[in-house]
Amino acid sequence: MSRYIYPDAIIATAGHVDHGKTTLVHALSGVWVARYSEEIKRAMTVKLGYITIGLYECQSMEGEFRIISDGLLKDGKCPNGDEPVLKRKVSILDVPGHEVLISTMISGISYIDAAMLVVDASMPVPQPQTEEHFTALTIMGLNKLIVAQNKLDLVSKEQALDNYKQIKRFLGNTWAKNSPIIPVSSLHRINIEAISSLIDQLVPPREVSSGDFRMLVLRSFNVNKPGTTPDKLIGGVLGGTVTKGSAKVGDEIEIRPGLKLGNKYEPIITKIVSIAIGNEYIEEARPGGLVGIGTELDPALTKADSLVGSVVGKPGTLPPVWSEMTLEFSRIEMPSNSSLKDVTFKPKDIVMIHVGSAAVMGIVKGFHGGKLDVTLRKAVSTEQSSKVVITKQVNNRWRIVGYGILKD
Ligand code: GTP
Ligand code: MG
Ligand code: MG
Repeated sequence: MSRYIYPDAIIATAGHVDHGKTTLVHALSGVWVARYSEEIKRAMTVKLGYITIGLYECQSMEGEFRIISDGLLKDGKCPNGDEPVLKRKVSILDVPGHEVLISTMISGISYIDAAMLVVDASMPVPQPQTEEHFTALTIMGLNKLIVAQNKLDLVSKEQALDNYKQIKRFLGNTWAKNSPIIPVSSLHRINIEAISSLIDQLVPPREVSSGDFRMLVLRSFNVNKPGTTPDKLIGGVLGGTVTKGSAKVGDEIEIRPGLKLGNKYEPIITKIVSIAIGNEYIEEARPGGLVGIGTELDPALTKADSLVGSVVGKPGTLPPVWSEMTLEFSRIEMPSNSSLKDVTFKPKDIVMIHVGSAAVMGIVKGFHGGKLDVTLRKAVSTEQSSKVVITKQVNNRWRIVGYGILKD
């Protein structure tokens, strides 16, 4: 097996529905990451897409941006004819922009290194999900953002300048106020090399991490075609992000919360039989890549994303399982979402609780002295003191109303 160059950072998209997130990922990677028939029908990202891209140096390319990605190679060469030199690989996570899918977005960004906020230059800033996604990135404590001012082909120079000022104003007084804002057309692949070069500049390779292996499950699949005979069945596959440590083919793993038996959860124990990133099979899973792990599990257990939100580790190393939580609640205040200042919680209110890659429904038991008690529809495995993002329907829209620190 040739030496595999492991992706060393994860960069997520963010931004309002239809502003061009998936198109930008396509321009960067050369791959359209929406693979699901429903997504193609509705022209909308429903699930998380992920793809690994190479970043290549084009030594004699003119201008300041000489790092390009797979989607910008022409017949395997740099646009100026240079032989591309692979510098590193990074993983790109494409999130959905639609408001009803905010939970998917929050789960996806639970462990990323940077984000690309895609803004449609032909629309006023911020659009509702531009702000909502930015709030989610803020709660996650992110500190690296690249703004892609997209659809530049649709606006005049004046409109582009005005839109740029609106983006500046939106990000002013936030952690992202000095983020680069790059005018692009993702559809026509204009200025995309500025994005790939900035990814390389702004997002340093993640350091090798020690500690017990831990993976957050973002997708789970049954990869067998219907009608496969039992002797040919491939075991269940888990897709996700490794947050620390590493694991190898042959290692035993535990999955929590696991299977519900009565009102208790039984952890699932299985073995890693394969590890892949994209179509490449590798020996070891570690942070930076979005990996697929083949297991010995009955594929019925992993089909249709049924294990999303689970955590994976070596047996005996995983955090506790929670079916009820007491959260110390904090509001999140963003300049233009003052409508959320008066949001409160009453018993029986429905909320969504996001921690790690899990997004589960919760029913409010009580809210007293800043402490929110919720009963979860489905248990989650996470450490005490975890930060939990809380969404709730406000005027018929799912909104991020704040976050909670898990007390007990
Ligand atoms: P969701 O996943 O639904 O949130 O949308 P998205 O942000 O991924 O948007 P997507 O990439 O699917 O693009 C939405 C529409 O905008 C498509 O019709 C694209 O072809 C179009 N589009 C994207 N980028 C550009 C651009 O630079 N110029 C123009 N003219 N159209 C663009
Ligand atoms: Mg999309
Ligand atoms: Mg769309």
